[in-house]
Amino acid sequence: MSSKEPLIIFDTTLRDGEQSPGASMTRDEKIRIARQLEKLGVNVIEAGFAAASPGDFEAIKAIAETIKDSTICSLARANEKDVRRAGEAITPAKSGRIHTFIATSPIHMEKKLRMTPDQVVEQAVMAVKLAREYTDDVEFSAEDAVRSELDFLVRIFDAVIQAGAKTINVPDTVGYSIPALWGERFKQLIERVPNADKVIWSTHCHNDLGMAVANSLAAVMNGARQVECTINGLGERAGNASLEEIVMAVRTRKDVFPVETRIDATQIVPASKLVSTITGYPVQPNKAIVGANAFAHESGIHQDGVLKHRETYEIMRAEDVGWNANKLVLGKLSGRNAFRTRLKDLGIELDDEALNDAFARFKELADKKSEIFDEDLQALVSDMDPSEVQETYELVALDVHSKTGSRPHASISLRVKGERVDADAEGSGPVDAAFKAVEKIAQSGADLLLYSVNAITSGTDSQGEVTVRLERTGRIINGNGADTDIVVASVKAYLNALNLLAAGNLRINPQEGDNI
Ligand code: KIV
Ligand code: ZN
Repeated sequence: MSSKEPLIIFDTTLRDGEQSPGASMTRDEKIRIARQLEKLGVNVIEAGFAAASPGDFEAIKAIAETIKDSTICSLARANEKDVRRAGEAITPAKSGRIHTFIATSPIHMEKKLRMTPDQVVEQAVMAVKLAREYTDDVEFSAEDAVRSELDFLVRIFDAVIQAGAKTINVPDTVGYSIPALWGERFKQLIERVPNADKVIWSTHCHNDLGMAVANSLAAVMNGARQVECTINGLGERAGNASLEEIVMAVRTRKDVFPVETRIDATQIVPASKLVSTITGYPVQPNKAIVGANAFAHESGIHQDGVLKHRETYEIMRAEDVGWNANKLVLGKLSGRNAFRTRLKDLGIELDDEALNDAFARFKELADKKSEIFDEDLQALVSDMDPSEVQETYELVALDVHSKTGSRPHASISLRVKGERVDADAEGSGPVDAAFKAVEKIAQSGADLLLYSVNAITSGTDSQGEVTVRLERTGRIINGNGADTDIVVASVKAYLNALNLLAAGNLRINPQEGDNI
């Protein structure tokens, strides 16, 4: 029997992570990530904010129908409409949670909510009681707890515990705290809130000062038994605490932390790659645990040490976090059955028509690239975009000329709402020329905020994975595309972003505007 207490891992990649600019995901992409999170062993998956849009509601419901080994949670502002929407979305779940929140800092109550502290307490209690009509598993968060008065937090937490909340989440919404103060805040709250021992204390930290993980761990040292985090630290602004860092810190420093998680760490790298492919947010090479260099030893002294005795410089093993999961899976001669089975192992289930389409694309890819890895399959399926997004623009053909000493030129043919349209343009490079040609047709008026290319696997025959971030009238969208030809991948990504902009499904951000 372990003497450690369980640490609940609450993953909010699909909700707070999705609040990163342009990181919105389709229903099918969310289901794929949820399946991987279940494989990883996260206790709670915050699948979205049901009241944000009909698309979010449907995604949470579909995840609740699919996932069996993790609790499925929906966020809800502390108002009747949001709570009911969250309750309906999680109804199919084997184990479902409603996470309701309201801001408690003077600045948020006065300037954003325009409510008195008494009204805020009343609203919170109403929301928790209503949520309890749908599930016993209700979490309450005091938004901007970091800048809230301790006495007021004690008062509102006491009230919501009496109303039936089972988890009390204390967020550092603006990433303002430092570890010593955050730990102290948990210590004081747990000492002062009546019935503190009857609930789970949870921490939710943002990374604006780069301390989200350190603050979360300080909370754990002072009694928190749930950490809210995201894969790759994705999230609003500088992101949330990164799941992989929390999990590996607790595991590697068993001597320090009195807790253990049920995470299968070998699923960490596959989860990281999947989230990065789907959101188009690349992982920086020197990122702890999941960065490409996290286990690479460059200096001669280090290499010598590692070869003589691994522990000289390594505190974790690459294979323990899933680095060797990047294995050759299929090749040119692989059949349909092997292809389907491998997709299934990756949590991707396609109907017959989509499978035929995917298999045809796989064969095309295998003609260009001799070794096909799991990451290639993930990108291939993402690229098919089997989502609800209607394709206004479709690539028919692309011809690009680039030669030293002359200006690159692109000719493009698109199908626009079923009709073929052609355009030509020159540019400072082949990608620039191709984008200009697309714009001659689309005339989107969007600004290009980001263009990034990543190799999906190693080798010069690797597929290039391109992310294009566009902005139009305040709306930010990421488009992704993959191909062994990076100009084609770039055009696919650009068209994907234009299609998402054209689809125009607007979502409400839970933390903007009024609560009611
Ligand atoms: O950062 C925050 O305060 C949140 C809450 C909704 C929990 O994301
Ligand atoms: Zn947050």
